[in-house]
Amino acid sequence: MEIKKGLEDVYVKETEITYIDGELGRLYYRGYSIYDLAEFSNFEEVSYLILYGKLPNREELNWFQEKLREERYLPDFIIKFLREVRKDAQPMDILRTAVSLLGIEDSKNDERTDIKGIKLISKFPTIVANYARLRKGLDIIEPDPKLSHSENFLYMLYGDRPNEIKSKAMDVTLILHIDHEMNASTFASLVVASTFSDLYSSIVAGISALKGPLHGGANYEALKMFKEIGSPEKVNDYILNRLSNKQRIMGFGHRVYKTYDPRARILKQYAKLLAEKEGGEIYTLYQIAEKVEEIGIKYLGPKGIYPNVDFFSSIVFYSLGFEPDFFPAVFASARVVGWVAHIMEYIKDNKIIRPKAYYKGEIGKKYIPIDSR
Ligand code: CMC
Repeated sequence: MEIKKGLEDVYVKETEITYIDGELGRLYYRGYSIYDLAEFSNFEEVSYLILYGKLPNREELNWFQEKLREERYLPDFIIKFLREVRKDAQPMDILRTAVSLLGIEDSKNDERTDIKGIKLISKFPTIVANYARLRKGLDIIEPDPKLSHSENFLYMLYGDRPNEIKSKAMDVTLILHIDHEMNASTFASLVVASTFSDLYSSIVAGISALKGPLHGGANYEALKMFKEIGSPEKVNDYILNRLSNKQRIMGFGHRVYKTYDPRARILKQYAKLLAEKEGGEIYTLYQIAEKVEEIGIKYLGPKGIYPNVDFFSSIVFYSLGFEPDFFPAVFASARVVGWVAHIMEYIKDNKIIRPKAYYKGEIGKKYIPIDSR
């Protein structure tokens, strides 16, 4: 009997959604290279591809975009919640709770899973951007149906239409976060879905798992680390000190990639572009990140530990105007597509997820009444 701790190398389902080549550092969505999708496609088209298994034709894309645009608005009770809730909460807690509230409201609705999924994909950015503004004491901005998904996300954050570079950076970053096969949050959402619980409960499980610093919370931790280092000259000592204290370099390492994560390669280009444009603090943070990348690879590369998606996404998100604790919620706004797609794929041939734990305690103990213990 072998225990597969962390379910490492255990296959729990067949999939046609995402393929990761962890040795060569390649990633494919429905067979298409992530490099091509990042360069030539857009969030709406890739989301359709992930959910429905094929690139949409013009008519299908129009339908999908229309549906996403219609669903951007939040019901009044969610806006009320966002206005009234404390303003020092973690954005992932806000997102998780807002999705739970939406689930209560939608509990009698027997629409198809993909349609419910579209509602969530569409509403996540509105929840995130609205809370980001309310937290700063600013009023919320209504979605703009004329804008693309990514442009509208940034528009709801700033109040202005983002420039072309920011829109493209946002779109590419969302595309890169849409799916990643059987990661912890996708698995968590499948565990819930496999009991035939509802979609909202499954998505809440996904958000809850993504929040942790070993998963989607690593982008926030990476930026905290760059800020703590303070300048590129301090990187070497900082990293050596961290490694000798058995602390991890956040945004490094991956269960599947034993080489450079291809998403990090693409994000590095955008981080550089945005940091050069922004200058100031962001450029310094980018320089620190580049140095951490170099020193980190020097010490950890031989063990197969390289930058992952969260490393440079932290600089991209920061350059795009998100405060660091919002990064995981922006990540979730893309990964919700993957959660919904995997749930739809799994429940077609459902089997409740119920692994085993190997019992190593004693059995047959005699019960002792409380006063005699
Ligand atoms: N810095 C330093 N050492 C590391 C790191 C790191 N970032 N990652 C792994 N190691 C070491 C670890 O200490 C262990 O060493 P030893 O065998 O000497 O004890 C060895 O590598 C194996 O680590 P593990 O935790 O058993 O590996 P895992 O596959 O279970 O964990 C991971 C993968 C992502 C949780 C881990 O690499 C990590 O904690 N990274 C930092 C957090 C992070 O960046 N997470 C984002 C993951 S990718 C995208 C996402 O999911 O959001």
